[in-house]
Amino acid sequence: MHWPSLTAALLTLVTSVHAVVGPGVVTGDTSIHDPTLCKDNAGTYYLLGTAAGIDIKTSKDRTNWTYLGKMFPNGASWTDKYTGKANGDIWAPDCTYINGVFWVYYSASSFGSQNSAVFLSKSTTGQPGSWSNEGLIISTTSSNDYNAIDPNLFIDGSNWYLSLGSWWTGIKLLSLNPSTGKASSTSLTSLASHNNGIEASNIFKYGSYYYLFTSWDQCCNGVSSTYNIRVGRSSKVNGPYVDKSGVALTSAGGTLLLGTHDKIYGPGGQDLMTDGDGPILIYHYYTTGLPQLGINRLDFSSGWPYAYRSLCEANISYPAP
Ligand SMILES: *[C@@H]1O[C@H](CO)[C@@H](O)[C@H](O)[C@H]1NC(C)=O
Ligand SMILES: *[C@@H]1O[C@H](CO)[C@@H](O)[C@H](O)[C@H]1NC(C)=O
Repeated sequence: MHWPSLTAALLTLVTSVHAVVGPGVVTGDTSIHDPTLCKDNAGTYYLLGTAAGIDIKTSKDRTNWTYLGKMFPNGASWTDKYTGKANGDIWAPDCTYINGVFWVYYSASSFGSQNSAVFLSKSTTGQPGSWSNEGLIISTTSSNDYNAIDPNLFIDGSNWYLSLGSWWTGIKLLSLNPSTGKASSTSLTSLASHNNGIEASNIFKYGSYYYLFTSWDQCCNGVSSTYNIRVGRSSKVNGPYVDKSGVALTSAGGTLLLGTHDKIYGPGGQDLMTDGDGPILIYHYYTTGLPQLGINRLDFSSGWPYAYRSLCEANISYPAP
C-alpha cells in the first residue's frame, strides 16, 4: 500500500469511528455574543452578533475570523426608543442569505424590559453601511405577556415563520409574508416556556421533524452565566414540541444539548445552519473575559441532535456516542 492510499484508508477509518468531527478550533477575532451565521454565494461566511450597530465578522474557511465592521456604522436611531439610549446595543441578530440577499432580523430592548421590538434589514453585499431599514416587525410593551426579542427566521418551503421571545410566557411563533418578510397575521402560537428564563429560539428541520432550540437560564455574566441549550421536536412547525422524555416544551420540557462543561461556561445564544459538512450549531460561551464563538457539528442520526464537543477545546476530544 503506498502512502496516499494508506492515508485515505486511515481517513476513512477515523471518519467512521468518529461519525461527527469538528473542523477544528476557531482563530482570529472570535469574540461574539448571540452569534448568527450566514454564507454568501462566493462562500464567504458572515458572523453577526449583539453590539451597538451590530458587529460583522467574516471568514473564508469558517475557522479564521476577521472583524469587518458594523451593519449600522452610524447607529440605528429607530432602535433608540427601545434600547433607551443613542446607539445602544442591538440584540441577537439573525442572518439568512437567500438568492443574493442577506435578510437580518434583530431586536432592540434593555435588560428586564418588555419595551422591545424586532426589526428587519436587508443587504446585497453584507458590507458595513449597506444595510436597509425595512422597518418594525413586531413590538411589545409591559401590557403583553411575552417579550419581542431574539427573532429567528425559519423557512419551510413556501411558508415563512419568525420564532421570537424570552422570559414571561416564553417562545412564540409568528407567520410572515415571504415576499416582504413582515408579519402576515397578528396571532402568535406559544411554543415553549421555562420559569427561570428562556430565549434565543431557533427552529430547524431535519428529516421529518422540526426541532426547537432555546437557551435556558441566564446569559451575559461571564463565567457565572448559566445559559444552556435545550431542544425539543415536533412533526409540525407550530407544535406541540416535546423533549426526549415526552414532556411538552410548553410545560417547561427541554432536553439538554449543551451546557457548562469543563472550562466552557454558559453556552447559548445559538443559531443553526446547514453547511457543506451538514448541520452546525453556532453559539457563544465564556472562559474568562469576552464571550467566545463556538461552532460544533451536529449529529441528528439518533433522531435527537448530539453536539460533538471537542471543537472549542483543542486538546480534549469526546467520542461520538
Ligand atoms: C486569518 O485571516 C487574516 C485576514 O485574512 C489573515 O491576515 C491571517 O493570516 C489569517 N490567519 C491564519 C492563521 O490563517
Ligand atoms: C493544546 O496543547 C498544546 C501543546 O501542549 C498547547 O500549547 C495548547 O495551549 C493547548 N491548547 C489548549 C486549548 O489547551
